[in-house]
Amino acid sequence: MSGETRGAANGEVGGQASQPLIRLRGITKVYGEGPTALQALRGVDLDVARGEFVAIMGPSGSGKSTAMNMIGCLDRPTSGEYLFMGAHVETLTRDERAQLRRRYIGFVFQGFNLLARTSAQENVELPLLYRGESAAARHAAAARALDSVGLKGWEHHTPAELSGGQQQRVAIARAIVTEPALLLADEPTGNLDTQRSREIMELLWRLNADRGITILMVTHEHDMAAWARRIVRFVDGVVADDTLNEHPAGVVADAGRTGAGAKLAGGAA
Ligand SMILES: Nc1ncnc2c1ncn2[C@@H]1O[C@H](COP(=O)(O)OP(=O)(O)O)[C@@H](O)[C@H]1O
Ligand SMILES: [Mg+2]
Repeated sequence: MSGETRGAANGEVGGQASQPLIRLRGITKVYGEGPTALQALRGVDLDVARGEFVAIMGPSGSGKSTAMNMIGCLDRPTSGEYLFMGAHVETLTRDERAQLRRRYIGFVFQGFNLLARTSAQENVELPLLYRGESAAARHAAAARALDSVGLKGWEHHTPAELSGGQQQRVAIARAIVTEPALLLADEPTGNLDTQRSREIMELLWRLNADRGITILMVTHEHDMAAWARRIVRFVDGVVADDTLNEHPAGVVADAGRTGAGAKLAGGAA
């Protein structure tokens, strides 16, 4: 293991523009031990370049969330290699992985995972608090992020005072407030109706197309996967299929882009 590929202090990693953002090689994950052990991943190989928008599909239990947790540095593989921006994540300690996450990765979950009784503003400021940024910097960045997801004026509402779609927008603002290289979304529209789901997909499309944030999104729904530029299908803990989507839904939406669709580009600081 060389110094250049080992995570450096503060979670900062190098990485050349030419190398993939994510490179998984022979990744396995076994939960538990002995007769009850369960092999969730059975040798996943996957490369994702910077700027891609990838949908991950596949049956329930096929290992999608396990793979996302691995890619998000929340968990380590049982075996195999994971390079994130050239750093060997499988060799990093828990603290080093946490630093990598804070610096480069944003998460959005199906259940929003916001702190209750805490305002939208404070929820969005949280990742910056972990980074040790000043109150003034946190405040300004969170206000900007909330504006960019269309929630200007809702800063002081708590999750209970917001609709599901609005809560997911707060969660997205929280995920992007650190200006991550990678956004991981595990069934982000799973709890939302069709219209709200479409709005969330438009937002993700804008983050990818206008800001170049790499997005990996797990979804069960073909209508949602249609927004991605690439669709990877998991079956039984391996990548069974990997196809490009020549006509992502966002290209069609952009053709008739107005009002809310243009919001993110206009509101981005
Ligand atoms: N923390 C865990 N402990 C034990 N088994 C788990 C754990 N998380 C997931 N699994 C099992 O691993 C397999 C893959 O799960 P998961 O990655 O959540 O699949 P998906 O997201 O595709 O539905 C499933 O059989 C699941 O029950
Ligand atoms: Mg899952």
